[in-house]
Amino acid sequence: MNDKPKLLDVRIYGDAILGKIAKPVETFDDELRSFVRDMVYTMYQRDGVGLAAPQVGQSVRIFVMDTQWSKEEGKPNPTVLINPELLSGEGDYEIEEGCISVPGIYARVKRFNKISYSYLDLDKKRHEAEAEGYDAVVFQHEFDHLNGVLFVDRLSKLPLLKIKRKLKALQSTAENGVNIRSEIYGKQVSSKE
Ligand code: NI
Repeated sequence: MNDKPKLLDVRIYGDAILGKIAKPVETFDDELRSFVRDMVYTMYQRDGVGLAAPQVGQSVRIFVMDTQWSKEEGKPNPTVLINPELLSGEGDYEIEEGCISVPGIYARVKRFNKISYSYLDLDKKRHEAEAEGYDAVVFQHEFDHLNGVLFVDRLSKLPLLKIKRKLKALQSTAENGVNIRSEIYGKQVSSKE
């Protein structure tokens, strides 16, 4: 495991894998460790606070998150959540969300303000935790990815109407149900940055 972590291709809107319900992880081995390491590396490289396995082409129930990390501070402290479960949720909380699988689009989404959840770590040890506010939003956003749901799927008609054209444009770059971000970098994403 001395080789460098890999930057994984990110699947974007219009890719069929983003709409699938991901399968639970059953085997905890070196291959899983190596994949998770690549996910963490990719999350930071893409400036994400979270990344779910379906976003990098694996339909399995894993996501990584680091809500404290910022480019400026630069102290990575990722959490790896395998087969996570949302145990309870209460209250409302809403912030503008974005997603590296839906580049260039931001919208407010109604979420629980307070949640409790469980997950397994890479050693198959079970953890229970609680989160509130922003941290709770990130969990719910990433957890949705494991159930084939994107934040734009949770928008009501009017906000959805506003971004419809942008979504169509992203979708139109898919071929045979596959839409990989690196292929559109030159065309759409880098032009706005
Ligand atoms: Ni996302």
